[in-house]
Amino acid sequence: MSREIIHNADISTAGADSIMRKYVLLAAGMGLAGIAALAVAGRTSDAQQSGPAVADSIAATVLAAGDTAGLPGLRQPIFFRHDIHAGQYKIECQYCHYSVAVSSEPGIPTLETCMGCHTAVSGTDSASRAEIRLLRTAWSEKKPIEWNRVHFLARHVHFPHANHIKAMGPNACATCHGDVARMPQVYKVNNVNNMGWCISCHIERKVTRDCTACHY
Ligand code: HEC
Ligand code: HEC
Ligand code: HEC
Ligand code: HEC
Ligand code: HEC
Repeated sequence: MSREIIHNADISTAGADSIMRKYVLLAAGMGLAGIAALAVAGRTSDAQQSGPAVADSIAATVLAAGDTAGLPGLRQPIFFRHDIHAGQYKIECQYCHYSVAVSSEPGIPTLETCMGCHTAVSGTDSASRAEIRLLRTAWSEKKPIEWNRVHFLARHVHFPHANHIKAMGPNACATCHGDVARMPQVYKVNNVNNMGWCISCHIERKVTRDCTACHY
């Protein structure tokens, strides 16, 4: 089984731009909210090209058949790729994890959010078309996707995302979750089920260590 991942140097900025323009046109024609989000991401990257060096869209790796079985992390019912959505197309984390700055729970996007784009976006190769077909079938059958949860604390512990985002900023995700925008499949970078991990950062940042702050 091949674990070789081919880094796709072929996706030049020009290529990404023309794809983006296609989606901008689609957005103009169909008025889809999700596609409009892609159009905004496209504009940002245009602006960045003429400006100083700012992290631009990260070309997602091309995975050959057989590679996916060796990826770290849990297999999901649909092969949803953060490296494509958050990396290559630069869709903001909070577009999908909509409540991360205001609630304990970050929020997992509904099928409706996915279909804001995937009514129009059907995929460019056979592998992506097959996965997007699964998504469209779930949508037409009104069956929510049961994502397997990767990070899961014991029930006696309380982790409020909002407090952390307020104190550490909207881009703090990587501090705890690693560089998700480069992950074809999400995996645990830190062992969150370990009190010592929480406490050492709380000591470092002079945050409470009161048992009742974290335990019910
Ligand atoms: C803002 C637009 C947008 C949203 C929202 C969106 N996608 Fe996508 N998605 C894309 C684009 C663009 C591609 C790349 C399609 C291509 O060129 O093959 C893609 C690709 C995919 C693929 C194929 C990946 C592969 O194997 O190559 C799957 C599966 C997918 N999306 C599932 C989802 C799911 C599930 C959701 C909701 C949780 C979602 N998408 C939300 C724009 C979006
Ligand atoms: C287009 C929608 C979309 C975007 C954009 C997105 N995510 Fe996600 N995210 C999902 C979906 C759907 C899942 C559940 C399936 C999975 O684990 O891949 C998920 C799962 C996760 C998980 C694992 C959750 C668990 O089960 O423990 C983390 C962590 C995460 N996302 C972080 C991020 C970060 C950080 C960003 C921005 C860099 C981001 N996501 C951008 C849709 C999105
Ligand atoms: C200080 C560490 C930390 C930061 C910063 C952080 N997370 Fe988390 N995240 C966690 C922990 C711990 C869990 C498990 C929580 C639980 O099980 O109650 C988690 C769980 C998640 C989940 C799964 C929730 C579910 O319902 O399935 C998602 C999605 C997620 N985080 C996204 C994000 C995003 C997006 C950001 C940045 C905007 C972010 N996280 C910032 C520590 C963090
Ligand atoms: C990388 C650093 C970091 C890690 C890791 C971290 N925290 Fe925090 N935590 C913070 C910061 C910063 C705050 C915000 C303090 C504030 O509101 O000023 C905070 C606040 C909190 C609060 C709110 C405290 C209050 O004032 O009521 C709780 C509860 C909490 N964290 C639980 C956890 C748990 C549980 C974990 C481990 C699963 C964890 N944290 C891991 C940095 C971290
Ligand atoms: C910053 C958050 C935080 C604080 C403060 C905290 N804990 Fe924890 N505690 C955790 C996390 C996270 C776990 C692991 C939960 C899991 O297994 O998912 C945990 C686990 C535990 C466990 C179970 C141990 C095990 O091996 O499963 C005990 C007992 C415990 N804590 C007691 C305490 C006591 C007593 C205090 C106060 C002195 C305290 N905790 C303070 C976050 C915290």
